[in-house]
Amino acid sequence: MVTKTDFPADFLWGASTASYQIEGAHDVDGRAPSIWDMFSHTPGKTLNGETGDIACDHYHRYSEDVALMKKAGLGAYRFSISWSRVMPEGRGAVNEAGLDFYDRLVDELLANGVAPWACLYHWDLPLALHNSGLGWPSRDIVPLFADYAGLMAKRLGDRVGHWATFNEPGVFAYLGYAVGIHAPGIRDYNAWLDTIHNVNLSHGAAVRRLRADLPATARIGAVPNVQPSLPASGSEADKRAAALLDAGWNRGFPEPVYLGRYDPIMREQLGDRIRPGDEEAIHTKLDFFGLNHYSPMYAKASGDDFGFRMTDPPEGVETTLMGWHVLPSGFRDTLVHVSERYGAPVYVTENGVADEAGPGPDGKVDDPIRVSYLDRYLGALVEARTAGADVRGYFVWSMTDNFEWAMGFKPRFGITHIDYATQKRTPKSSYHWLAGLTGAA
Ligand code: FCB
Repeated sequence: MVTKTDFPADFLWGASTASYQIEGAHDVDGRAPSIWDMFSHTPGKTLNGETGDIACDHYHRYSEDVALMKKAGLGAYRFSISWSRVMPEGRGAVNEAGLDFYDRLVDELLANGVAPWACLYHWDLPLALHNSGLGWPSRDIVPLFADYAGLMAKRLGDRVGHWATFNEPGVFAYLGYAVGIHAPGIRDYNAWLDTIHNVNLSHGAAVRRLRADLPATARIGAVPNVQPSLPASGSEADKRAAALLDAGWNRGFPEPVYLGRYDPIMREQLGDRIRPGDEEAIHTKLDFFGLNHYSPMYAKASGDDFGFRMTDPPEGVETTLMGWHVLPSGFRDTLVHVSERYGAPVYVTENGVADEAGPGPDGKVDDPIRVSYLDRYLGALVEARTAGADVRGYFVWSMTDNFEWAMGFKPRFGITHIDYATQKRTPKSSYHWLAGLTGAA
């Protein structure tokens, strides 16, 4: 088992969440719907028709959640801002009551010694933008995202020291716009490519705005998801499929963002979407690389425009409730690769595992699956550091159980259990185990 002394004294321990997955209060204090409200309320899109209407009611219970962070000894908390809570239409009028919520949250974190890490976009695009044709497939969204970034920088920049633009752009571009299993439910090869490029341009524009509007001490980064892309079989066709998946999902964002150039496969696919000057506009020096990682993924060839399809791991390997392959060595290799290739200090901004553990007769929640997974993945992180990877922190996904997108409330990712009927929070054994690593227990 890993122990506290395996990590340097200044290693940053944190937890991550996302607005739509925890906040609830979907129609409170002037919040307008996002594409996830629309999608989750569309019959058949989420498990049992579940929605984030209430979720963990974090909007009202944030003090209790922050107290749990402090008690676990966490030094940082990564949350995302709901764009349609602070700018209901995604542009124009600002909602003061929504901004007040993030003021309260940030003040509570600081009062408890937990550093706020704000992420501007974790998948909940204002529905009004989508409905007016100004979603990610439209290049016209770029200045709108920059304006939103500027609004948040001006409001929270005096207290929030760490900022990220997009959470897992490769994931929401593919799941939302290529295969339509996430909001807004689009299945279109061209919409997928448009999204990738417009998100990249929006990132660049937002970083410039953040630099202009934040104090010079602010640290700005992005949060890509990188995971080994493996072929489902040894066939040449499946190997090619894995390379295509790797290009779109893993490399579509960090290559231009951190290195200033699309990789060759993406460049060819994007074609004349890339206008002169675009790569320069996307590329700006960043202060950290936020890596989200859970597992490797598998690809097989398909006869459509994409040329690949994601598929299940091979029979017989260890998988989680999500069907994801547990492979700590893949995490180690990814950390080494990301650190070497992109050159910025790495913070693991998400890693964790889903289970269904609930309270036992004594009211305690024992989650051995999570403790085992976290222990092995943190062991891999220690190995990566020994191999030279510059990994400076680890944020577990997630602080509490929450709304797991299309899978609803069934997968539980929290180190804290939520009873959704009563909103009771119960720290799980993994919470106490993690508190041992931070030095709090
Ligand atoms: C990541 C997402 C996060 C959560 C975890 C399990 O892809 O960023 O919101 O759903 O997976």
